[in-house]
Amino acid sequence: MTFQVVFGRDPEVTASAPGRVNLLGEHTDYQGGFVLPTAIPQQATVAISRSNGGAHRLHSANLNRTLTVPLGERGEDFAPYVIGCIELMGVDDALDVFITSDVPSGGLSSSAALEIATLRALRELYGLPQDDVEIALIGQRVEHEYVGVKSGIMDQMASSLADTTRMLFLDTRSLERRVYPFPAGAEILVLDSGVPRTLAGSGYNERRAQVEEAARQLGVPELRDVTDVSQVEALSDALLRRRARHVVTENARVLAALGADAARFGELMNASHASLQHDYEVSHPRVDELVALLQADPRVYGARMTGAGFGGALVALVPQGEAAAIADGVLARYSGEGQRVVP
Ligand code: GLA
Repeated sequence: MTFQVVFGRDPEVTASAPGRVNLLGEHTDYQGGFVLPTAIPQQATVAISRSNGGAHRLHSANLNRTLTVPLGERGEDFAPYVIGCIELMGVDDALDVFITSDVPSGGLSSSAALEIATLRALRELYGLPQDDVEIALIGQRVEHEYVGVKSGIMDQMASSLADTTRMLFLDTRSLERRVYPFPAGAEILVLDSGVPRTLAGSGYNERRAQVEEAARQLGVPELRDVTDVSQVEALSDALLRRRARHVVTENARVLAALGADAARFGELMNASHASLQHDYEVSHPRVDELVALLQADPRVYGARMTGAGFGGALVALVPQGEAAAIADGVLARYSGEGQRVVP
């Protein structure tokens, strides 16, 4: 299917945006912390044309589904992601929108890629002034106000600003950022565990509420402001203590990783996974199994779940040129239906 086949004419604009894989700094970005993502080659692409009707028509090529959403309504299914972008950019025309994406769902920011691609297309179509950071912030508002996930800013910033050749170090409080090369001699392996992330929305918002409560009890604006992990011992509730300990130690791991060699970077990834598994409890037994298989391979520098968790994707740092062979070996021993997310 193409825009022309579905809507009977050419689109006025087409724009794309990538998914991302986060190498380190998980569940820190809604507490002012540090993250270290990179873009992946997979992208969402959105083609748009103005129409004369009283409703938007949104076609997903992946789902082979067209949704008709009357102006002023938010729609269902994938519609709120697109309608949110249209409304928050101040556009009140009815639009025909054609979406295609090869970003796998589950931990690689397929939704941020859709938002940023849609926002870029709208910016171009209407000549709007928002820069790439403002675009990212609007994408985050779409998640909050239209989708109902209280996400941080990492995914939209990564999709809007990162490229596939470097890591984007982002301070999610100030939005200051720097790019770093990947550790010398290493490449990134991304696997999809095949576990659908059914609990992601509710579990995510629950974690966010827990660390907000921890910050409140510790008397700091955000857990970013706790730099000595022993401070979290002041929390009387054991669950909140574990949640806060993850965020505080994860921020320290990101800072330690900047400029680290592959071996050290890998150790930090392994420690991040243990923290997400035991302290933050956002992993999944199948993902833990795959991470353990990767970590047991002597060639692998380090491996961890990536993204919000509860299933979905994982990332490993491996020697240059060895990702495919390592993936084949690990997937052959995995009890689930995993696959390599091929570059
Ligand atoms: C999701 C959110 C991000 C971030 C990650 C976890 O991808 O959209 O803002 O919180 O989970 O690090």
